[in-house]
Amino acid sequence: MSEIRIPRWLTSDSPGWQVEADVIVIGSGVAGLSAAIHARRTGHRVLILTKAHIDEGSTRWAQGGIAAALAEDDSPSEHRDDTMSAGAGLCNPSAVEVLVTEGPQAVRDLISLGANFDLEPSGEISLTREGGHHRDRIAHAGGDATGAEISRALVSAVLNDPEIEIIENALALDLLTDHTGAAQGVTLHVMGSGQRDGIGAALAPAVILTTGGFGQVFGQTTNPYVSTGDGIALALRAGAKVADLEFVQFHPTVLWLGPLAQGQQPLVSEAVRGEGARLLDPDLQPFMADIHELGDLAPRDVVAKEIMKKMRASGSAHVWLDGRTLGADTWVRRFPTILASARSRGIDPVTDLIPVGPAQHYVSGGVVTDLFGRTNIPGLYAAGEVACTGVHGANRLASNSLLEGLVYSRRIMQAMNMDSLERRDSVVGSPQDSYIIPHRLRRDMQSVMDRNAGVLRSEASLLHAQKWLNKLERTGAKACTEDWESANLFTVSQVLIDNALVRQETRGSHWREDYPESMTDFEVRLVSHRSPEGGLITTTTGIGT
Ligand code: FAD
Ligand code: SIN
Repeated sequence: MSEIRIPRWLTSDSPGWQVEADVIVIGSGVAGLSAAIHARRTGHRVLILTKAHIDEGSTRWAQGGIAAALAEDDSPSEHRDDTMSAGAGLCNPSAVEVLVTEGPQAVRDLISLGANFDLEPSGEISLTREGGHHRDRIAHAGGDATGAEISRALVSAVLNDPEIEIIENALALDLLTDHTGAAQGVTLHVMGSGQRDGIGAALAPAVILTTGGFGQVFGQTTNPYVSTGDGIALALRAGAKVADLEFVQFHPTVLWLGPLAQGQQPLVSEAVRGEGARLLDPDLQPFMADIHELGDLAPRDVVAKEIMKKMRASGSAHVWLDGRTLGADTWVRRFPTILASARSRGIDPVTDLIPVGPAQHYVSGGVVTDLFGRTNIPGLYAAGEVACTGVHGANRLASNSLLEGLVYSRRIMQAMNMDSLERRDSVVGSPQDSYIIPHRLRRDMQSVMDRNAGVLRSEASLLHAQKWLNKLERTGAKACTEDWESANLFTVSQVLIDNALVRQETRGSHWREDYPESMTDFEVRLVSHRSPEGGLITTTTGIGT
């Protein structure tokens, strides 16, 4: 057992109010909103808790699109092969099979719900290509505003259903469980008014975690401010298993805003390369053609590594993306969001080279689920980026994330209808077993993670970060939202480092300078959980069949 200790609770007051439902969904991105819609279709009383405004989350920022075998010359089996190949030997084949076979219908259902995808003059869905795909299979909306359109359609469906209750500005803190260990709701903090203000309890025999990723662990990320790993930390504290946290994906082409840039950074979609843009090294030479058969559209981890090598060799803080050949019309029609974002920073992609470099983008791991979103805690389900279904393995294939959120949130309803879920009283835990991290430490924590556990890692850098985290001040003092989030970032960082130290190899998005090769011994998944005494236990399992 490692020396890492994980408390059972975040420090908070006792709940002063409560609310009940059949199903609680935590989060309102693609996974949460579609889980809520499916739960309503099966007649459940649904309560959505979301920590900011309903449309906050990574979903609305998604640019490139959603991958599915929709073209006549494409097939789920080709989508499967590309997904498995990007996953570098660690994808669970059954989970991938579910994704690629149920994916096309999930996209059609989204269209029936009102999502408007870009169309060809023939009326067919317009499809483009991104890294790691051998076919054009990325459906997009508003050119490069796919997430915003998906979010709009799902939010509108949820708001139009009077039977779905939504509490915004509601930060879920901890899982409540009964004497059998089954989920019975969550504690939460609401910044509201009237009766539902401050700490409360939301009670239900089914809790669906859809809290997204943990980009804010790092100082530079494409993720919005709400992506603080709350769901993974909450699940860990309650005894759930998490896996693959070492596989953090760094997107290769994030607009470089200078060495002091912090927080959410503007993405330049892979689809820009799909339409013909090329990466150039600091000497303005193209470099991807010699590295991979897919050239500039190699899987994301391959491109990010190559960019890092070029940056290290030259001492430059970025490389260049040349999209000038696309022409003004294509930029305006296909990438209006990126064009506006770059121009607002003084770069015109129509005439200028774009400075780009890698930044944190996605976590391939998360709370371990079966093929129906069940975790190892009865009544606790997970879907979307917070979950580890095994689909992504060591590196997610571009645009498979929105699809995974849609496909697997629907499957949770099939599970819930089979599982025997009973409402029981929750067990009151020991409030002593709790802490928070003062939020004034967050920036330091992020920069330690950037420097030591980012794109390139080594035993020395990881041990340095581990030691630094171990010394960090933890308190039981009265907390605010940013303190609770900082505690979650801290827990996630600890487990990420633990797993990254154990995995003494380079595979997918996990790049160890001291172990540069992939090893057959590591064709396993690292699974971590909290023991009843509070220690972190990490074991290896097979990848599934
Ligand atoms: P999110 O959309 O992140 O939603 C999480 C929700 O949980 C939010 O509502 C948040 O407020 C809420 N929440 C979090 N913690 C708590 C808490 N403690 N209590 C209550 N609520 C909480 N993927 C693709 O497939 N294609 C793309 O083109 C693409 N482009 C991307 C571009 C960008 C810039 C980014 C950041 C990501 C992109 N991705 C893309 C990845 C994809 O957008 C995300 O993985 C996906 O949207 C995650 O959906 P989700 O529902 O799991 O989480
Ligand atoms: C992008 O548009 O490059 C992001 C796609 C993704 O993260 O899947």
